[in-house]
Amino acid sequence: MKTTRSILDAVLRLLGFGIATALLLGGTYSFTKDKISTQQELAAQRLYSQLIDTNSYTNNLNETAIDTPAFLATVTHSDAPVLLATNHDELAAVLIPTDALDGYSGRIKLLIAIDKHGNLLAVRVLAHRETPGLGDAIEVSKSDWILGFNNLPYSLEDRAGWDVAKYGGDFDQFTGATVTPRAVVRQVERTLNAIAEESTWLKELQTHE
Ligand SMILES: Cc1cc2nc3c(=O)[nH]c(=O)nc-3n(C[C@H](O)[C@H](O)[C@H](O)COP(=O)(O)O)c2cc1C
Repeated sequence: MKTTRSILDAVLRLLGFGIATALLLGGTYSFTKDKISTQQELAAQRLYSQLIDTNSYTNNLNETAIDTPAFLATVTHSDAPVLLATNHDELAAVLIPTDALDGYSGRIKLLIAIDKHGNLLAVRVLAHRETPGLGDAIEVSKSDWILGFNNLPYSLEDRAGWDVAKYGGDFDQFTGATVTPRAVVRQVERTLNAIAEESTWLKELQTHE
């Protein structure tokens, strides 16, 4: 009888401990989850502010995400949404995630900002696996090379400069590393080109509700 009682005691204590642990873990999770999403939100805001002048739009960019249209998705290879920056409901800029697949070590994830006419505002690298000290100069924290994309006009008639200098283009390659910058330049151009070819898309976005 005494043995049954002490087994029951032990089981109840174990159960209580299990419940307390589950509650503690659950509480910690919901507390840190909120903190993590706030941190992610702040990091996203910091990134957006590097790409678009924060005074040029009035909306919350994360609330105007749209699916990448099919014509563009075949070029961008990214499932991340396109974000619209609007100024009192007027289109100010568009953020387009686009991935170069031909980096030295594979995929280079980019985010490009264009104005409502399809001209480039800026480009940033979101993720890559290029070699430190060689290809990683595409990161704004490593060099100012990526700033060379700032405010570049784009037109279908004038595509010749969109390559690195070694291949006759306007963009510098890096010492000992041509593959990485070339992959970025050409992917930015492919993306701008697809948008310019589908000229109705930006016009339709300007009337986007
Ligand atoms: C270990 C190693 C890592 C390299 N990493 C890169 C890189 O990240 N990006 C890059 O453009 N080139 C890298 N290179 C150099 C390329 O192989 C290539 O020589 C260089 O980009 C010049 O290309 P090009 O011959 O088309 O001008 C690397 C080479 C070696 C041996």
